[in-house]
Amino acid sequence: MATMESLIGLVNRIQRACTALGDYGGGDTAFSSLWDALPSVAVVGGQSSGKSSVLESIVGRDFLPRGSGIVTRRPLVLQLHKTEGRQEEYAEFGHLPRRRFTDFALVRKEIQDETDRITGKTKQISPIPIHLSIYSPNVVNLTLIDLPGLTKVAVDGQSETIVEDIENMVRTYVEKPNSIILAISPANQDIATSDAIKLAKEVDPSGERTFGVLTKLDLMDKGTNALDVLEGRSYRLQHPWVGIVNRSQADINKNTDMMYARGREREYFATSPDYGHLASKMGSEYLAKLLSQHLESVIRAKIPGITSLINKGVDEMEAELDRLGRPIAVDAGAQLYTILELCRAFDKIFKEHLD
Ligand code: GDP
Ligand code: NA
Ligand code: MG
Repeated sequence: MATMESLIGLVNRIQRACTALGDYGGGDTAFSSLWDALPSVAVVGGQSSGKSSVLESIVGRDFLPRGSGIVTRRPLVLQLHKTEGRQEEYAEFGHLPRRRFTDFALVRKEIQDETDRITGKTKQISPIPIHLSIYSPNVVNLTLIDLPGLTKVAVDGQSETIVEDIENMVRTYVEKPNSIILAISPANQDIATSDAIKLAKEVDPSGERTFGVLTKLDLMDKGTNALDVLEGRSYRLQHPWVGIVNRSQADINKNTDMMYARGREREYFATSPDYGHLASKMGSEYLAKLLSQHLESVIRAKIPGITSLINKGVDEMEAELDRLGRPIAVDAGAQLYTILELCRAFDKIFKEHLD
């Protein structure tokens, strides 16, 4: 049904509600179990492997903070909503629900500011996610979670344990059986040394929920190619590997347009002597479609489990509301009440999706 909200969109609204309650996994309330049960795509990789570039290519917009070192210091839950027709693109943050951003440079600034609000202007990290929705006719329905890049050493101003802290935070996302892992590795480094593959191998040894992405194909030494990786001979996954050519640092400095870069990437594969035979299954546009379809089918399969957790959460909340006493005057109660209503609505909509 065309009018029905996308399943991916519904799941993201529940994720936002869970964050508002302070439950983003790991806890023992019904809602943290619910958060854990919701399928999502987690983006993992070493620093500078190309994570931000892949996300921006998927969105077709420049909007992520950049720089060297650790830039992503809180998880960013990025929800893409495909809009119809020629509507203007805009973005909205979970923590600023009534403000529409049409200038994506301001989106970048708000991600930075909101990161600093929790972590201070330090190089510390925080597990509290930032929620960002982007509405655009140029995206597919998809939710991606950008995570801090895996590193090997702490830098000045960081605690001794930062390397471990980052790895542990990333692990809490990718170890959930419902998490889909977007494992980013650069083609100009040996795949055997990839941080993303190392972690994916550990939490998903059969490779059934890992999508391998190989960036920087254009930066490989002349005379070499990545066919062993892309054709699954170096490291086998259940899903096919996807090769990517993002904008280079020089392109970024020149403000090379995203749409132009997408076109150039398409051209790169279409005319490549090495990868021409794989061209229809390479590139960021293909990756976005692949992930969207996969996420939708995983969510569909999980609907019964999700609705039973929602009902459990609703029961817990009703008990909590009874304890607080109705009618609700206090903020906490009002928030619980809103989420309760939201969950009841979801339960109904999910059942319609099952029919
Ligand atoms: P992150 O730290 O994993 O988020 O990595 P970024 O997306 O910020 O990329 C790090 C650097 O590598 C930037 O200068 C990018 O322009 C560059 N880069 C990323 N992907 C590619 C690619 O496919 N080709 C080229 N030439 N450069 C890339
Ligand atoms: Na980085
Ligand atoms: Mg980044």
